[in-house]
Order: sequence, then structure tokens, then C-alpha cells
Amino acid sequence: MDKLVIEGGARLKGEVTVSGAKNAVLPILAATLLTDEPCIIKGVPNLRDTNSMLKILRSLGKIAEFDKGRVSVTAGKTSNYIAEYKLVSTMRASFCVLGPLLGKLKKAKVSLPGGCVIGVRPVDLHLKGIRALGADISIDAGYVVAAASKLRGTYIYLGGVYGSSVLATDNVMMAAVLASGKTVIESAACEPEVVDLAEFLIKMGAKIKGHGTPVIEIEGVKHLHGAVHTIIPDRIEAGTLILAALITGGDVLVKNVHYQHLGALIDKLSEAGAHIERTDAALRVKGNKKLRSVNITTLPYPGFPTDMQAQMMSLMAVTEGISVITEKIYPDRFMHVSELNRMGAHIQREGPHAIVEGIKSLSGAPVMASDLRASAGLVLAGLSARGKTSISRIYHLERGYELIEEKLVNLGAKVWREKE
Ligand code: EPZ
Repeated sequence: MDKLVIEGGARLKGEVTVSGAKNAVLPILAATLLTDEPCIIKGVPNLRDTNSMLKILRSLGKIAEFDKGRVSVTAGKTSNYIAEYKLVSTMRASFCVLGPLLGKLKKAKVSLPGGCVIGVRPVDLHLKGIRALGADISIDAGYVVAAASKLRGTYIYLGGVYGSSVLATDNVMMAAVLASGKTVIESAACEPEVVDLAEFLIKMGAKIKGHGTPVIEIEGVKHLHGAVHTIIPDRIEAGTLILAALITGGDVLVKNVHYQHLGALIDKLSEAGAHIERTDAALRVKGNKKLRSVNITTLPYPGFPTDMQAQMMSLMAVTEGISVITEKIYPDRFMHVSELNRMGAHIQREGPHAIVEGIKSLSGAPVMASDLRASAGLVLAGLSARGKTSISRIYHLERGYELIEEKLVNLGAKVWREKE
């Protein structure tokens, strides 16, 4: 296993290009199961999770090839309806093969993904939506077994205790596109990744309206065809790189960003006093100003993303003043707190809140990554810290950040990999 070593203190300078969005590409690859015709997906990031999804598609009968950011799903028929535990357990997003398998084959057997370090992560909303479309669902030996002689469009309220659900909206939308009649999903997730999936489905011949709002309307069609699609830029990678520039007092042009996808983050950073300039599809971040601490509450889109919470906590850890960070999507997503405290941060967790008392600087230390975004938070902390930080279990980072070391090194960071 590798660890990432960072010699902190270098100011990041230069240009960096954001990759395609992980959380858009995973459901879009799953959507290719809805047709037997070829699909081409461009701007695909080469990530551990992307490769896991390709393995799942192959296990379900598809021929899928990945070359230089382009995935071709060709020839193979969606023939197998069983997504196995050993594949699904590696990544929660693989549970969203349930909707397309059921839509296409009228039956599906998909392993339950289980919980993970960021929380319990149930799938009740996925099952509620799929059931409402007329499927019989049972749980057998850790698998969801779903079957329907015919899926029928209907009204579905998909809100849960923590608001809307991204992958449940994706799953239900993918099952509904081939159902007969009209489906209305109320309290649908509005995340840009859901919109990107809807756009891909529309290119395949689906009839969808209202994506990007809490009410999505789907008029079922009989058949979907192949399509070509380019994935949107990854807003969380963009946000992480913006914070990397700020936390190191650098000057970075972050290219390939959709500004409107970053509204809540940029608003908070402006409140903190950061200087972010917008040019066409890029953002220039100058970290020469002293920042103020700000309070943050994570919420479903367009609120502040939970996937930026750990990174923002690292920035607040070295910003003078008190910041209260409230996690409203995953109340237990705070594994990074103790690791940041190992680096000298003053952070106290109280239930779904973390109270961060900003200090002048962190000191490098050996720390452990617990999940993808916690790893990103630790990388930011390491970049700003005095001395050397070594982050173990770095495979978490590889799940969601394409070429992150190269990108940081090109910006002047001192980052390298070592064997543990
Ligand atoms: C997606 O997960 C993302 N993953 C997550 O990104 C992201 O953190 C999350 O959305 C929230 O934005 C992918 O897109 C692959 P949810 P998802 O269903 O869809 C509860 C990352 O780091 N809930 O929107 O699984 C759930 O427990 C990852 O890239 C139910 O109660 O998240 C949570 O509290 C991690 N029942 C809330 O809803 C359900 O059936 C929102 O979760 C489903 C979810």
C-alpha cells in the first residue's frame, strides 16, 4: 500500500484542469444498460471507481473499453441481471444498476451496498421509488431481488429524513424511462450530476422534464437507443483545487469549471474574504488575502456540498476565528477531525457540529485517510502545514481524484508517494 507524503509550505502557482465528474459518470455508465446499442462517453476520469463500474457493466454482459478519457460500451447485450456482492461492495454507486436492469430486463438482483465510514447510508428511498413503479421487491441473502411484469409510471414522493437522495433519484429515473405512462418524482435531487444523467437519457431517447428542479416528470418510452455524451466537470475536484490555492496562499487558474455548480462554495469563500475571479470556463484564485472564519452547513444542492465539508474544515483550521461546521447530510462524516487535531488543529465535535478554532498553522504529522473527501481534507492540511505530513490509506483518494499528485506537483507542491 502507498502513502502520500507532502512537504508543506509551497505556494501553489499556475494552471490546472479539472477532470470529468466522478459522480456523474458512474450513473451514466449504469444507464448504458438501458440499451443494447453502442454508447460513447467522453471526458471520463480514470479513477478506481470508474474502473469498478466498468467491471460491473462487463459482468452484466456489456463490452466496455476505456481509452484516454473515452469509454465505449459496444455490442454486448444487457444479458445478466445479477450484480454481485464482490463488485457492488467496493462502491455504493454500483447500486444504481438496479433501476436500469429492472427497466430493461424487468428483473434485477443487486447486492445491497452496506454502510460505510461516513454513515449508515440506507437504500429505503431507492426501494420505495422502484416499488411504486410496480416492482415486487424482496431482500434475499444480502441482495435486493426485484421483478415486474411491467413497470407503470406513477407519482413518487422521494424525500427522506435528510432531504432528497442523489442516487435514489438516479435509480428511479432510470427505471421510469422505460415504464409505461408518466412518472412524477417529487423531492427529486437537483444536483448537477442528476441533471447530467437526465441529459444523457434524453440523448438516448428518454422523455424527461424538470431535471435540476425538485419535480422531475418522465414520460415512458418503449425503447432507448445508443448515444454520445461528454461528462460535466467535477465540481468537487474544482472546489478542492480552489481551496488548495487558498490554503497555500497561492495563485492558480482552475480550468474546466462550471461556475454555476459552485455557487454555495464561492459564496462562502467570498464571505470569508477570498478573491476569486471568473473568466469563461475558469476561475482565478488568489490566496494573498487574510481570510475570516465562516460558518458552514451542508445541505442538498444548491446548498453547501457535504463532499466539500472536510476540505473546508482544513481551511477553517488555519483561518483565525471560530467556525461552526454543521453536517446535515451525513451527521457522522467527521472522521477527519481527529486526524486534523493530530496536526495541531483545534476542532471539537459536538453531534452533527464541529467547532473549529482557527490557528496560525498546522504541523505535519503521520495521518490516516478514512474516506475520499477526508483524504482530500488531509491533503489540503498537509499542503499548508509546517514540515512533513504522510497520509496512509491513500487508495481512498484514488477513488475520486484523477492524477491528483501530478496536478499538485505541476502547481509547485512537494508531494510524492512512498511504500508503507
Ligand atoms: C451521492 O451519494 C454521492 N455519491 C456522494 O458522494 C454524496 O456525498 C451524496 O450524494 C450527497 O451529495 C455519488 O453520487 C456516487 P444520498 P448518495 O442518497 O446518492 C440518506 C463522494 O465523496 N438516504 O443523496 O448515496 C443518506 O443516508 C460521495 O463522492 C436515505 O435515508 O447520497 C444521506 O443522509 C460520498 N435513504 C442522505 O439521504 C436512501 O435510500 C443523502 O444521501 C438514500 C439516502
